[in-house]
Amino acid sequence: MAKSMLLPLLANGEFHSGQALASAMGLSRTAVWKQVNRLITEQGLAIESVRGKGYRIAGGLDLLDADKVLAALDPSAEALLGSLEILDSIDSTNSEVMRRAEQGCASGLVCTAEQQTAGRGRRGRAWISPYASNLYVSLLWEFSGGAAALEGLSLAVGVAVAQALRVCDVPQVQLKWPNDVLHDGAKLGGILLEMSGDADGMCRVVIGVGLNVAMGESAASAIDQTWTDINRMMKGRCPGRNKLLGALLNELVPLAAGFEQKGFTFWRDDWQSLDAFAGAPVVLHTGAAQLAGVARGVDTRGALQLETTAGVQSVYGGEISLRAAP
Ligand code: BTN
Repeated sequence: MAKSMLLPLLANGEFHSGQALASAMGLSRTAVWKQVNRLITEQGLAIESVRGKGYRIAGGLDLLDADKVLAALDPSAEALLGSLEILDSIDSTNSEVMRRAEQGCASGLVCTAEQQTAGRGRRGRAWISPYASNLYVSLLWEFSGGAAALEGLSLAVGVAVAQALRVCDVPQVQLKWPNDVLHDGAKLGGILLEMSGDADGMCRVVIGVGLNVAMGESAASAIDQTWTDINRMMKGRCPGRNKLLGALLNELVPLAAGFEQKGFTFWRDDWQSLDAFAGAPVVLHTGAAQLAGVARGVDTRGALQLETTAGVQSVYGGEISLRAAP
């Protein structure tokens, strides 16, 4: 759906009459009514319609705003950022960034969207992405040293996310190998890295981050795991999404720029200090196979150190899920 003028008008949470909206948008009242209906049915927005008062979104909307995000950037992140694209609705910001990379876009492109219609998580799962509620962010970066130089990158991104949240005074989060962001054991966010190019040379990486900020109840009913959002964690005193996005880019962009040179070793101690499963009995699920052991952190390559009866095994990323042992 094309970016609507209607939502910025309704974003303040006040009632607006159909006539006032029609005049502001240069449309008929019927056209406004049709747009309202589309926003309700296609984007799941809770727009109230009250006779004699008009339309409103109770509580308002915290829309993404490029000027506010850019104003929150540190000079170092701003210098490294290529461009910031705020989309209204897209299938997946990761897919969009990959498409743009194929069209020649270079390192530093960031795409974010109010809504993803086909947001993707790890292991083929959907990432529930309702409108104007959460953050869905993808950053493009090119690396010249091949896939081996990128070991541990997704774990380092987890550290960057945790640091951005800390800067915004969000209560302490933890990380679950390989790349879940948790609070009190509930999933707050996830990281999805996708690569293309030459495994031994130049490769493009899309770093995708999803963070639940203020997940609506109806969208949340589609989530099949224990989840939380920043609004719940902060009892309604949630920082705005523009501030959160600025803080995230302040960590993420310099991380991408420096990773090849620094390597995961630079972030490893921080990752270990955030490890939700350090010393815990766990079971790794890989397809039909399961491997039980005690989680002993990660090595310098980001491989999970699983202490089993046969000794400590290094487990690399992939289609693996880690769960607490029953
Ligand atoms: C996971 O924990 O399963 C990873 C979730 C990653 C979700 C983000 S939202 C932005 C980007 N676009 C996507 O389609 N996925 C990632």
